[in-house]
Formats: sequence, C-alpha cells, structure tokens
Amino acid sequence: MIFGTGVDIVEVFRMRDAINKWGMNFLSKIFTDREMDYSNARRFSHQHFAARFAAKEAVFKAFGEGRKSPMKWTDIEVLNNGDGKPAIEFHSTALELKKQKRIDKVIVSMSHSKNYAVANAILLRKRKKA
Ligand SMILES: CC(C)(COP(=O)(O)OP(=O)(O)OC[C@H]1O[C@@H](n2cnc3c(N)ncnc32)[C@H](O)[C@@H]1OP(=O)(O)O)[C@@H](O)C(=O)NCCC(=O)NCCS
Repeated sequence: MIFGTGVDIVEVFRMRDAINKWGMNFLSKIFTDREMDYSNARRFSHQHFAARFAAKEAVFKAFGEGRKSPMKWTDIEVLNNGDGKPAIEFHSTALELKKQKRIDKVIVSMSHSKNYAVANAILLRKRKKA
C-alpha cells in the first residue's frame, strides 16, 4: 500500500549558482561521493545535480516529515542501475525512519531539461500481517 508520495521541481540555474558560490562545501553537504561522481561525469552536470536534489526533496515529502526532519541530505542517495533507472539507497537516520514506518519500497522517477529538473517519489509500505 502507498505510504506517501512527493514531488519536487528545481530550477537548474539555482543549482549552478549554489555550486559556483559554495563549491564542495555545498556539494558534500547535499550529495554523496557516488552522486557527485555520476553527475560530474556528465556533460550537463548541473541538471543531474538538480534532479538528485529534487529526488531527495521528493522523498522527504513522501515521508511527510517536512523541514523538521532529522534526515540529512546525504541519508538519501540516488543511484542508477545499468539501464540508467534511478533508485534510492537509504542511510543512517533515513534508514531508521524507513524501518520505523515499515517502508518496503521506494519508486523514484526524474527528468531534467536545460532549465528545470523534476522528481517524483512513492513510498510503499508493508501490509501488517493479519
Ligand atoms: C531513459 C529515457 C526515458 C530518458 O529520457 P530523456 O528524455 O532522455 O531524459 P529525461 O531528462 O527525461 O530523464 C533522464 C532521467 O531518466 C532516468 N532514467 C534513465 N534511464 C531510465 C530507465 N531505464 N528507466 C527509468 N528511468 C530512467 C534517469 O534518472 C535520468 O536522469 P539521471 O541520468 O540524472 O539519473 C530515454 O533516454 C530512453 O531510453 N527512452 C527509451 C524510449 C525511447 O527511446 N523513446 C524515444 C521516443 S522518441
């Protein structure tokens, strides 16, 4: 059953400006090494960073925790399988919350263009045994 859904849109220029202004201080607060490696290896890296930022926000929203959430940005990691399909790996506080809320699966989808990146996340919960 669906526990929650979230969606987010990010303007790519904002991501580019933040990276240009704060560099690694910003990047390492938000993104894991694997996310940075993936995005930096691509021609329009800012779009990939923006999409990952949107995906993390979408997962936060799907949890319904809002801004007070103790989850860190890097607790939610966006990885791609061999076909390019994105998936979320949970760490630390996010992993705890996932277990606590009995989240079984997360489905994430992302898209990006020159100006915008969007992501959608759906959290699926295990049914309680009767
Ligand atoms: C995968 C595909 C749908 C990506 O679409 P796109 O318009 O090029 O790019 P978008 O910005 O919309 O989406 C890119 C994101 O799609 C996601 N994606 C890539 N491969 C995926 C797959 N196999 N399944 C689900 N999502 C995928 C990724 O998250 C990617 O962003 P990332 O690289 O930053 O992680 C597309 O490249 C593809 O393979 N389409 C197959 C069908 C096709 O060829 N249609 C053409 C009709 S004209």
